[in-house]
Amino acid sequence: HRAKLTLDPAFEIAPVERRLFGSFVEHMGRSVYTGVYEPGHPRADEYGLRRDVLDLAREMGVTVVRYPGGNFVSNYDWEDGVGPADERPTRLDLAWRQIETNAFGLNEFMTWAAELPAEPMLAVNLGTRGVREACDLLEYANHPQGTRWSDLRIKHGRRDPYDVRLWCLGNEMDGPWQIGGKTAEEYGRLAAETAKAMRRVDPRVELVACGSSNSRMPTFASWEATVLEHCHEQVDYISLHAYYDPAAGDRASYLAAAEEMDAHIKAVVATADHVAAKLGSRRRLKLSFDEWNVWSQSLFGGEAGLEWAEAPRIIEEDYDVTAAAVVGSLLITLLNHADRVGIACQAQLANVIAPIRTEPGGPSWRQTIFHPFALTAAHARGRVLRVEAASPVFPTERFGEVPALVAAATHDDAGELTVFAVNRGERPLPLDVDLRGLPGLAVARHVTVADDDAGARNSLEAPNRVVPRTLEGAAVRGDRLSAVLPPVSFNVVRLA
Ligand code: AHR
Repeated sequence: HRAKLTLDPAFEIAPVERRLFGSFVEHMGRSVYTGVYEPGHPRADEYGLRRDVLDLAREMGVTVVRYPGGNFVSNYDWEDGVGPADERPTRLDLAWRQIETNAFGLNEFMTWAAELPAEPMLAVNLGTRGVREACDLLEYANHPQGTRWSDLRIKHGRRDPYDVRLWCLGNEMDGPWQIGGKTAEEYGRLAAETAKAMRRVDPRVELVACGSSNSRMPTFASWEATVLEHCHEQVDYISLHAYYDPAAGDRASYLAAAEEMDAHIKAVVATADHVAAKLGSRRRLKLSFDEWNVWSQSLFGGEAGLEWAEAPRIIEEDYDVTAAAVVGSLLITLLNHADRVGIACQAQLANVIAPIRTEPGGPSWRQTIFHPFALTAAHARGRVLRVEAASPVFPTERFGEVPALVAAATHDDAGELTVFAVNRGERPLPLDVDLRGLPGLAVARHVTVADDDAGARNSLEAPNRVVPRTLEGAAVRGDRLSAVLPPVSFNVVRLA
């Protein structure tokens, strides 16, 4: 019962796209307030930004951050969040039934993103608003000066344009829960017209059209096809969202969640390319997997049951070692699709289904899922190689038999080879890697995220219960690397 990989530097998938290591900050629960932003906190800076959270996000290697939603954006007036703080209105956020003070808005977010530093990815409201407000926001953010909105930005203390490239044309517009939801026809037209107008304001923008809210939506794939028939030529990306639920179904299917992500990506690529063929277009859209994570969504009572509150504790998921292995397998799947997936954002960054947790006035800590993200962002360099894998299998209810091994490999210009591998099985998995065409390498380090207790978690009381550990024993003999992957584990084996 051994797993095998064959690697050859001649067989590449694509360069490692740094935008795959994105995250997401939504005005939701304690993601912003007492998450990234908490004036008066002992670690807050002059802008009220929590430096401890910034330090952790930097350590995670976050490259892109999507903002301000999520469902929140679909009834958000961005103008409420700019200008003198004491003049900003308090409003009802209908997405999460929250009281929104608007103390944090676009300029605070841009300051935060620059401090990280990470590339901003802004969403415009296409729920309750339209083409005009999207263009106003873009003018405020990117136009140099001398116009109503650019001069307002300057008046608000920011002279230079922000030059934001990435823009989401709404959020989950097919969702019945979305404020101002649309049919595919309505949204496709609106996305096309918004894109056309935004490119007139700034031709350098890169635009993301909303795909389905998840691959189990009844209109999945037909939504993408109809939307793209309207806006294929105007946009650059189509979005995918997916949450993998530990509380729904059997454990084996949960461990195999990457099968669903893989099939989801292939289905959206096929649909986008089908539309391109129909239109006679030579463009090949990229995918923006701009919300993905593990979330016990079946345990969430839904937004309608929430009470009006400011920064409430909602969906503050506690992640265990199994979740870290699943998140690792999802990162590996994204890497293996780097030829078509151009952006990915883990949802979210702080407190709300997040790798980083904080206490108001108190400390912050890394959840288990922080570690596979940080290790992959740090070590995935150069080009993604095709991995030819053979692995023992295990049975699942949802996907039938699936391989225990999920793996990706990257190879950089300095000659470093890194193998990312998840053992989804409940037994140790010996791994052999055929290193043909990669002579002279030796193991620099094998790091694992694993534990005798797959349910182990980090917490306020025990923030470092689960941390990456170095494993001894991996070695190269001749042109063969061998290593043993612990049960339910995420692994990084670096060779130099
Ligand atoms: O990330 C939480 C929510 O999940 C987002 O607001 C929404 O886009 C998705 O349904």
